[in-house]
Amino acid sequence: MKSSQDEGAATPAKARRQLLAGAIAALALSMAPVTAASAATAPMSEADTACLGCHSIEGLEKTLDNGEKLPLHVAGEGFAASVHGVFGCASCHAAIDPARHPAAASSIASIRQFSIERAGACQMCHSDALDQYGGSLHSARVREGHPLAPVCTGCHGAHAVSPRTAYETCVGCHAADLDAHGDWLPNAALHQEVVSCAACHAPDAARMIDLRLYDGAASKWVVEEEGAPLFGQLAQAADTNGDGLDANELRNLLQEVNRGAARPRTLRGRVELRTDVEAHRLAEKSRAIRACDNCHQYGAEPFRNVTVSVTGPDGRPVRYPAHKDVLGSALAVQSLPEFYAIGGTRSRILDALLVLVLLGGAGVPIGHMTLKWLFRKYRARRARSGGGNDAR
Ligand code: HEC
Ligand code: HEC
Ligand code: HEC
Ligand code: HEC
Ligand code: HEC
Ligand code: HEC
Ligand code: HEC
Repeated sequence: MKSSQDEGAATPAKARRQLLAGAIAALALSMAPVTAASAATAPMSEADTACLGCHSIEGLEKTLDNGEKLPLHVAGEGFAASVHGVFGCASCHAAIDPARHPAAASSIASIRQFSIERAGACQMCHSDALDQYGGSLHSARVREGHPLAPVCTGCHGAHAVSPRTAYETCVGCHAADLDAHGDWLPNAALHQEVVSCAACHAPDAARMIDLRLYDGAASKWVVEEEGAPLFGQLAQAADTNGDGLDANELRNLLQEVNRGAARPRTLRGRVELRTDVEAHRLAEKSRAIRACDNCHQYGAEPFRNVTVSVTGPDGRPVRYPAHKDVLGSALAVQSLPEFYAIGGTRSRILDALLVLVLLGGAGVPIGHMTLKWLFRKYRARRARSGGGNDAR
C-alpha cells in the first residue's frame, strides 16, 4: 500500500513529461524530418530565425480593430531558453504560413480577445492542465468577461515559459492580497513560504509533505548545481531496498549529502501538491483551506505522502519518495530541525503545543516563543532517551 502511494508522488510528472516529449518528437519527425533533426542540435532552427528576423525588431506593432496596438516584439533568447525553445515557433503558430505572412493580415478584435484565443494553442499538448483549469475560479471569471482574469499565458507567459513555483506565479497579480491572510493565520509569511498557494487554494487536490534541502546558516533553499545531478543518485543509493527512503536511509542520505559540504544542509518541510497539474484546480476563496487541523493534526492528509527533494538547477524540484513515518521518527527530530508543523508530524505533545498557540490568540508572538522553547525541551528529552518510538 505504502510504496505505490509513496512513489506515486514523485514519478508521474516526470514520466508524463518524458511521454509528452517523446510524443512531440515523434510528431515533429513525422511532419518535418529535416527541421526536427537540426532543431535538436542547433540552438535555433532556420524557420525560427526567419520569424525572429522581423519579430526581434523592437517597436514593431499591429493596430487592432478596436484601435489598440499589439506589440509584436518577441525576445529570441528568452524563447530559446524556455521549455518550448526546442519545439519552435510553429508548434504554437502552425496557422501562420511563412509564404503568405504577414501579407495575409488577420483581423484581431482586441488584445484581450487575441490572448484568450491564442492560449488555445497550449491545449494541444497540455490538455490535462486545461481540463483542471476549466473548473477553476479564474476560468469562471474569464467566461464572465472579467478583463484581467488569467488564461494560461496570464500565469505562464507565452514565449519565455519556464518552471516557477506557485508563489512566484501568483504574486505578480496578488501581492496586495498576501497580507490579508495575517488576519486569521499566524505568521502568514512563513506559511506562504512553506505552503504552496495551491495547497490551500486547490482544496480538492491531493497534498504531500516535501522535505527539501535547506541551508539553515544562510536561510536559503539549497539549489543543485548544473552538471552535478547527484541528489537523485545519492537518494537511489541510500534507498537500499528500493521502496522509498525509511528513517535510517534518510539519515544516511543526509550524511552523504553533507559529506564535504561547507555548511550542514538540513531538511525543511513544505506542503505541496502531489501533482503540479492539480495546481490548476483553484477554487473560489470561500472554499480555500483555512482550518488549522488540515495540517496541524496528527495524521493529517498532507502527512500521508512524503518526498525528499532538492531544488534542481532549473528551479524544478528533484524528488525522491520516502516513507511517511520518517516524519514521526525520533531521527526526524535530529534531521529536521527546521520543521515542526505542529501536530501534523510527531506526537500528542506537539498537538498540545498547537492548542497553546491557538489559546495565545492575538498574543501569537508569545505563543510562538513558548512553542520554540517547549520544542527545544522536547528535542533535548528525545535526544537523551535515545530514539523513543523509532524502534525499527
Ligand atoms: C517579413 C517580416 C515577418 C516575418 C518573417 C514574420 N512576421 Fe509575423 N508579423 C509581421 C508583421 C508586419 C505583422 C503584423 C501584420 C499586420 O499588421 O497585420 C506580423 C504579425 C504576426 C503575429 C500577430 C498575429 C497576426 O496574425 O497578425 C504573429 C503571431 C506572428 N506575426 C508570428 C510570426 C511567426 C510565427 C513567424 C515565422 C513563421 C513570423 N511571424 C514571421 C512580420 C513578419
Ligand atoms: C508555447 C507556444 C508558443 C510558441 C512556441 C511561440 N508562441 Fe508566439 N504566441 C503564443 C501565444 C499564446 C501568443 C499570444 C500571447 C498573448 O496573450 O498576448 C503569442 C503571440 C505571438 C505574437 C504576437 C505578439 C505577442 O507577443 O502577443 C508574435 C509576434 C509571436 N507570438 C511570435 C512568435 C515567434 C516568432 C515564435 C518563435 C520564436 C513564437 N511566437 C513561439 C504562443 C507561442
Ligand atoms: C508542441 C507541444 C506544446 C505546446 C503547444 C505547449 N507546450 Fe508547454 N510543454 C511542452 C513540453 C514537451 C514540456 C516539457 C518540457 C521539459 O520538460 O523540458 C512543456 C512544459 C511546459 C511547462 C512546464 C514547466 C515546468 O514547470 O515543468 C509549462 C508551464 C508549459 N509547458 C506551459 C505551456 C503553455 C502556457 C503553453 C501555451 C502558450 C504551452 N505550454 C504549449 C509542450 C508543449
Ligand atoms: C492561475 C495561474 C495559472 C493558470 C491560469 C495556468 N497555470 Fe499552469 N501552472 C500554474 C502553477 C502554480 C503550476 C505549478 C507550479 C508549481 O507548483 O511548481 C502550473 C504548472 C503547469 C504545468 C507543469 C505541470 C506539470 O504537470 O508538469 C503546465 C504544463 C501548465 N501549468 C500548463 C498550463 C496550461 C496549458 C494552462 C491553461 C489551460 C495553464 N497552465 C494555466 C499556474 C497556472
Ligand atoms: C494575471 C493575473 C493573475 C494571476 C497570475 C493569478 N490571479 Fe488570481 N485572480 C486574478 C483576477 C483578475 C481575479 C478576480 C478578481 C475579482 O474577482 O475581483 C483573481 C481572483 C483570485 C482569487 C479570489 C477568488 C474569489 O473567490 O474571489 C483567488 C483565491 C486567487 N485569484 C488565487 C490565485 C492563485 C492561488 C494564483 C496563483 C496560482 C493566482 N490567483 C494567479 C488574477 C490573477
Ligand atoms: C494556509 C492556507 C493558505 C495559503 C498557504 C494561502 N492562502 Fe490565500 N487564502 C486562504 C483562505 C482561507 C482565504 C479566504 C480568506 C477569507 O475569505 O477571508 C484566502 C484568500 C486569498 C485571496 C482572496 C483575497 C480577497 O480578499 O479576496 C487571494 C487572492 C489569495 N488568497 C491568494 C493567495 C496566494 C497568492 C497565496 C500564495 C502566496 C496564498 N493565497 C496562500 C488560504 C491560504
Ligand atoms: C496547509 C497546511 C497548513 C494550514 C492549513 C495551517 N498551517 Fe500552520 N504551519 C504549516 C506548516 C507546514 C508549518 C511549519 C513551518 C516551518 O516550520 O517551516 C506551520 C507553522 C505554524 C506555526 C509556527 C509558526 C512560527 O512562527 O514558527 C503556527 C503558530 C501555525 N502554523 C499555526 C497555524 C494556525 C493557527 C492555523 C489555522 C488558522 C494554521 N497554522 C494553518 C502548515 C499549515
